[in-house]
Amino acid sequence: MQKEKILVIGASGQIGVELTMALRKIYGNANVIASDLREQNPLLEGTGPYVSMDVMNKEMLHVQVLRQNITQIYLLAAILSATGEKNPGLAWNLNMTGLLNVLDIAREEKLHKVYWPSSIAVFGPTSPKQNCPQQTIIEPTTVYGISKYAGEFWCHYFNQRFGVDVRSIRYPGLISYKSPPGGGTTDYAVEIFHDALEEMKYECFLKEDTYLPMMYMPDAIRATIELMEAPAEKIKIRTSYNVSGMSFSPKEIALEIKKHIPEFSISYKPDYRQEIANSWPQSIDDTTARNDWGWKEEFNLAAMTQDMIENLKK
Ligand code: NAD
Ligand code: SER
Repeated sequence: MQKEKILVIGASGQIGVELTMALRKIYGNANVIASDLREQNPLLEGTGPYVSMDVMNKEMLHVQVLRQNITQIYLLAAILSATGEKNPGLAWNLNMTGLLNVLDIAREEKLHKVYWPSSIAVFGPTSPKQNCPQQTIIEPTTVYGISKYAGEFWCHYFNQRFGVDVRSIRYPGLISYKSPPGGGTTDYAVEIFHDALEEMKYECFLKEDTYLPMMYMPDAIRATIELMEAPAEKIKIRTSYNVSGMSFSPKEIALEIKKHIPEFSISYKPDYRQEIANSWPQSIDDTTARNDWGWKEEFNLAAMTQDMIENLKK
């Protein structure tokens, strides 16, 4: 059997750093090539090969895939919801062109597998707010959500038409302590920990009762790897899977942090991101992922908060 050789695009980002390290543990350091437009994240230094690359440059990407004998691509390069609203044209261009470049090369070079994440941002104000199902009304109102929904259908199309084994998860907001988030609406749930530990106060850009679906990074990395390692016949959804971790509001996470840092206080100054958050569901129904490939989260709000604080203190 041919050895897997994996290219991670967007490896210096919030998910990329941890996913690259997890893949290197499984497949061996030399078999996981990290790549990004920006410089290598310091946490990746010395852990395996790195190439500087722009996913918009299809030729450059194609050359790397051939030169390195790549068999799988994890595409993480994207512009997220909040940054996307500041520059909708750029967000659409990167999120679509990057994906189409990867899917085209995967088809031409018969890659074994492709991973591309979607987001809860595909859902819009007309989707159910509670336990939002896998299949429902989907009318996104952000450019990020539109690009993710279009991307889901491109993945489905390349799978059905050309047999590309592309798999996807609609991540909720991701909380982590290793690499900072890159411009999303859920970023407050990471910033709050840094400010709590450094200043014992945090000014939140969302209102206190804004519930959003969230997940701790170890669960997100495990979900990604479990999905990618599941037998192909179990992957019945070729757009993107709902997965759920937890759901909380800024007020609730602040109360949880206060259990560890009693002096901590939170204030609220909602900005343009409030409207984005209001358009998304508050919680997600992931029954299909559970039934198809056995997904189950481990971290709830209390366990995640304790682990974040312990690790950030280090
Ligand atoms: P991030 O912004 O932290 O990282 C993205 C990385 O892509 C950055 O390091 C950036 O330098 C790189 N990049 C940007 N343009 C590039 C280009 N042209 N060529 C090569 N690299 C380029 O984002 P993230 O949070 O790690 O998200 C990764 C993926 O997961 C994205 O598709 C995002 O939409 C999705 N997602 C993330 C979350 C979350 O909460 N973090 C939630 C849902 C979905
Ligand atoms: N965390 C992401 C964002 O807020 C959700 O895709 O943009």
